[in-house]
Amino acid sequence: MRITHLTAASLLSSLGHASPLSQMSRFLEIETRQSPGSYFAITGATGGVYPRLEIRELEKTGEMWNLYLLAMISFQGTNQDDIASYYQIAGIHGMPWVPWDGVAGSINDDKNTNQLGYCPHANLLFGTWHRPYLALFEQQLQKHATNIANQFASPAKSTYQAAAIKLRIPFWDWAKALPTSEPVLPTAVTSEKISVTFPNGTKASVDNPLFDYNFHPLDHSQINGTGCPVTGTQNGPVGGLPEVCDNDLMTVRNGVNASDHPGLDKKLRNILPSQRTGVYAILSQWQHFDSFSNQGNCGPGGGAGTLEAVHNPIHTQMWPGHMSPASVAAFDPIFWMHHANVDRQMALYQVVFPETYVEQCPADTPTYSINRGDLLDANSPLTPFHKNAKGDWWTSANSRNTRDMGYTYPELASNPSNSTLVKQIKTLYGPATGFAAKYKRQNHLPSRSTKQTRYLAKVEFPVYGLNAGAPYNVLMFLGNVSSDSKTWLGSEAFVGLASSLGGVNMRSEMVATATVDLNDKIEKKIGSKELTVEGTVEYLRANLRWRMELGENEIPKKEVEGIKVVLISTEVEVAEKDDVFDRWVGGFVEHGEVDI
Ligand SMILES: *[C@@H]1O[C@H](CO)[C@@H](O)[C@H](O)[C@H]1NC(C)=O
Ligand SMILES: *[C@@H]1O[C@H](CO)[C@@H](O)[C@H](O)[C@H]1NC(C)=O
Ligand SMILES: *[C@@H]1O[C@H](CO)[C@@H](O)[C@H](O)[C@H]1NC(C)=O
Ligand SMILES: *[C@@H]1O[C@H](CO)[C@@H](O)[C@H](O)[C@H]1NC(C)=O
Ligand SMILES: *[C@@H]1O[C@H](CO)[C@@H](O)[C@H](O)[C@H]1NC(C)=O
Repeated sequence: MRITHLTAASLLSSLGHASPLSQMSRFLEIETRQSPGSYFAITGATGGVYPRLEIRELEKTGEMWNLYLLAMISFQGTNQDDIASYYQIAGIHGMPWVPWDGVAGSINDDKNTNQLGYCPHANLLFGTWHRPYLALFEQQLQKHATNIANQFASPAKSTYQAAAIKLRIPFWDWAKALPTSEPVLPTAVTSEKISVTFPNGTKASVDNPLFDYNFHPLDHSQINGTGCPVTGTQNGPVGGLPEVCDNDLMTVRNGVNASDHPGLDKKLRNILPSQRTGVYAILSQWQHFDSFSNQGNCGPGGGAGTLEAVHNPIHTQMWPGHMSPASVAAFDPIFWMHHANVDRQMALYQVVFPETYVEQCPADTPTYSINRGDLLDANSPLTPFHKNAKGDWWTSANSRNTRDMGYTYPELASNPSNSTLVKQIKTLYGPATGFAAKYKRQNHLPSRSTKQTRYLAKVEFPVYGLNAGAPYNVLMFLGNVSSDSKTWLGSEAFVGLASSLGGVNMRSEMVATATVDLNDKIEKKIGSKELTVEGTVEYLRANLRWRMELGENEIPKKEVEGIKVVLISTEVEVAEKDDVFDRWVGGFVEHGEVDI
């Protein structure tokens, strides 16, 4: 329901103090309890514009990598009462349900009663909100790094000081092609111990700060199982997520009391091809930014997938573990590398399609400081992030260019021309060998043919449809599906997935859309003569299947009301050159609901 009509100007004038509530409309009202001049100023890293590196590249940098590890150890060790501590910054995202930097909740939603964090999901601001959030983390990390660099003795000191100036948070590219011998989860985050050199020159093997975060302490009155969605279904429990939030020692991944990294790596390997295809689709197809950036019902609905939908499965694969409920996700150090990668995807998109950006949409899903229905736009404050002590806000408009926050990404560092960047994106995420050429060969098509049809499964899923907001995955298969859900992700028939992150107490009817691309599988089957181009629709209708699961445990379809999968197709104008993207043209054709 749209209940708000508010201009950016009236919104801006309402900031920083309580404004009278308009009789006819609710609007985004931000109350702050800080006195002016004492806000926490988020500047991002300082000292110039430097690229955030892929974690496996940062690892090769010697001094900078050592400094990063020492800075993470120091940052994580900060007293949890400090507003700039790792604990409090991670706590902005979800639990504890307390204000940060004096930014109070909205009029009708109280962070404690309603148990909402500041993070916007299924909401216009999903993409841009995480930008100042990461910049805040990066700025604090650099502060710790600078202090540590100053402790080294000459001549190492100047090398470390120079490294601190250039240090930016790493990103983890979970969609890039990797030989099967290499883990998708970087070993730097899965080793329990890691080598560092202290400023006094002593080398040691220490607890790896990228492996987990150790609460010191976990206050159960602040963070506890009540902040995690109940995951039991009518047919019995799926697992123990509330126990994860109650884990008072450390963050875990893919496990309750300890991380299961080998198991997680297998899952990430299994979803890598579809994640890669999903990333390529959102980076190569023009959509209105509001349709591209989030899975809320904003923008005209592009249909090529969304940044948020592509990011979701990385969270849900770590279930049960801190990364899967949004209420505690940011405590896991891998959260920051994952979201830096999501921010990078957004930055790449912004350079390829610079003319489209955040416009306007009522909030589909509330946060601690945003009511459902509040009208959001590019000037909406990205609460609780202040630009300066005076209290000016970070907004989507003023965070549009990453360089203003002191960072860029490797692909963008040298201001590439559009065709250079397109080529690079195609190399990173595009079909392995010239798709057009391969398609033509396989289909014995004349080389001048530039049209083909692309098939996708469109998944419409109620985001908070399972047990008051528990996460779930919708897996697509082409072929027969075993009754043993433990084998699904690794099976030959598995194509890809759509994931709902859910969220505790969201109470929203919100239905999101994600697409699973079927073409790689179809091509293989055409290649092996199992399928002909003409018989594709008929084959898909007979063999496309979907199942629901979480943590490899089946969730009966009837547990989520309103979930729907539809087979769709679009025409593709195949690019003849490697610095141009294939274009999906002419909209989508529906071929009926998939209900097996
Ligand atoms: C060097 O610093 C580390 C970390 O502070 C400390 O544990 C170690 O004892 C120091 N070594 C020497 C030789 O002082
Ligand atoms: C759990 O935390 C919430 C606040 O985040 C608090 O209201 C509630 O009382 C806590 N529960 C327990 C059992 O401490
Ligand atoms: C986790 O640890 C708690 C406390 O030791 C124990 O009660 C629980 O059974 C463990 N859960 C699992 C899944 O191992
Ligand atoms: C699925 O199983 C049926 C019955 O066992 C079989 O006839 C059919 O060929 C299988 N389909 C595929 C795509 O493997
Ligand atoms: C960059 O190239 C892509 C693919 O050909 C095109 O769709 C896009 O509009 C171009 N962007 C700019 C800024 O020229």
